[in-house]
Amino acid sequence: MNIILLGAPGAGKGTQASKIAAKYGLMHISTGDIFRANIKGGTPIGKIAKSYIDAGKLVPDEVTCEIVKNRLSEEDVKKGYMLDGFPRNLFQAEELSKFATIDVCLNIDVPRDLLMDRICGRRVCSCGESYHVSTLNGSNVCAKCGRELYIREDDNPATVEARLKTYEEQTAPLIGYYKKKGKLVTVHGGKGSPDEVFAQIVLALGE
Ligand code: AP5
Repeated sequence: MNIILLGAPGAGKGTQASKIAAKYGLMHISTGDIFRANIKGGTPIGKIAKSYIDAGKLVPDEVTCEIVKNRLSEEDVKKGYMLDGFPRNLFQAEELSKFATIDVCLNIDVPRDLLMDRICGRRVCSCGESYHVSTLNGSNVCAKCGRELYIREDDNPATVEARLKTYEEQTAPLIGYYKKKGKLVTVHGGKGSPDEVFAQIVLALGE
């Protein structure tokens, strides 16, 4: 099974991705994580991506599509994968259809007024885990690996506003695009705990 995870910044794509990967054995491919790893490593791709990410804009399509195309040619995705954060506009969706077959586009729908608080309260760990300050009880270490948590550089109010605008203008039209193709499944991610949202996903995808 090959899945696209669609949703606004802060909708819970990363949170649900680890649960989906564990249950269905799908490879989790996050373009945001790939860019952040490149920025950390000081690679040429990282140097291009940084200014766009800091501004809340999309990294140019030619860079992003090439990364995903190469990643999907690797052996470890053959049993199925989940694309988190790709495609993010109609051009990327059209490109994807040239080199991949997608079974389901899973849209996590969250009202806009919840997104700013979710993102600005997010604390992340270098192991990939993500938390919200409201559930950490004052702790600043990862419950999974014990490392110190930190705040993503693009999780500040000005950049989040720009990311939400980019989402509304460029990514939200993909909801209609995948609906027309009969591939869209929407779950409500604004109410209920991450486990409750995941239960909706399992109902939608099957056991
Ligand atoms: P990316 O890393 O993809 O970020 P994003 O789409 O903005 O999404 P987030 O990671 O912020 O949110 P999420 O939906 O994963 O939410 P999470 O699970 O953490 O992209 C970053 C940048 O890279 C982009 O801005 C762009 O510049 C570039 N980029 C990436 N892909 C690209 C592409 N294809 N083309 C061009 N550029 C690209 O949850 C958020 C918070 O909410 C957490 O604190 C979590 O604990 C909490 N939470 C989650 N679920 C719940 C719940 N049910 N109840 C309460 N709290 C919850």
